[in-house]
Amino acid sequence: MRRRILPLTFAAVFGACAAPEPAMPGSMAEAPTTVKGLKNAASFASIDDDQARARALFAEAGKVLTHARCVNCHPAGDRPLQTDAMRLHEPPVVRGEDGHGAAGLKCQTCHANENANLVEISMPGHEHWHLAPASMAWQGKSVGAICDQVKDRARNGDRDIDAIVKHMAEDGLVGWAWDPGPSRSPAPGTQAVFGGLIRAWAAAGAHCPPATAVAQN
Ligand code: HEC
Ligand code: HEC
Repeated sequence: MRRRILPLTFAAVFGACAAPEPAMPGSMAEAPTTVKGLKNAASFASIDDDQARARALFAEAGKVLTHARCVNCHPAGDRPLQTDAMRLHEPPVVRGEDGHGAAGLKCQTCHANENANLVEISMPGHEHWHLAPASMAWQGKSVGAICDQVKDRARNGDRDIDAIVKHMAEDGLVGWAWDPGPSRSPAPGTQAVFGGLIRAWAAAGAHCPPATAVAQN
């Protein structure tokens, strides 16, 4: 949507005279580059075949999706994970009915609206801090299987592809993964570069890499 509206707005503002080309993340105008370990969408523009390009784009995005900052909230079981090693959450807490924890021990008991630096702990926080539903579990899945999950409206919160792109590119809880506070490694790249990969993947037909049995990193 934005892509179409923005150039129009620029044209309106600058009149018919040579409007500057806005640098859109993920657009062909962008040069291939790698930002903090994540290749941008333009790095894949030379792959002609749509299916091959979509698969390559999603595989690159998989560096983020399989990172501890995402997987810790998308676990296979009922308990969140912690640290880069993705170990079970201590103290033990469970998803509860709505992902916000059991009645007696809600996530918000400990997790505040933003990251907090306590004396010995760097405490992660966000106003929407809670656990992803079991249908959105990524732990132990290959990037291809995660791709299939994310596209499946029966498992993805009934989102169409546009809504998935928007969630990945703009959602604040997703964005926390690049601003996780001290003593916690951020996800590769930036949310903008990641969003650009997902947007280009969708534009190329949202094809998924094969769902192999290979365990994630
Ligand atoms: C009794 C306190 C407490 C409760 C309740 C709690 N947490 Fe935590 N949680 C912590 C602490 C402390 C850490 C930081 C541990 C560390 O990384 O050193 C943490 C870390 C995490 C992390 C790791 C983030 C990362 O990638 O490093 C996730 C994910 C998480 N909590 C999710 C949840 C969810 C979801 C709930 C509710 C279902 C919840 N927590 C409830 C204390 C709590
Ligand atoms: C603090 C916990 C938390 C973290 C960290 C987190 N998520 Fe989520 N995620 C959720 C919750 C909760 C939902 C369900 C929200 C909903 O459906 O509205 C969700 C849903 C999603 C969805 C919806 C579609 C689906 O089928 O999975 C996507 C996509 C997603 N997350 C991507 C990410 C990415 C990418 C990262 C890391 C960069 C990430 N999330 C990190 C909690 C988290």
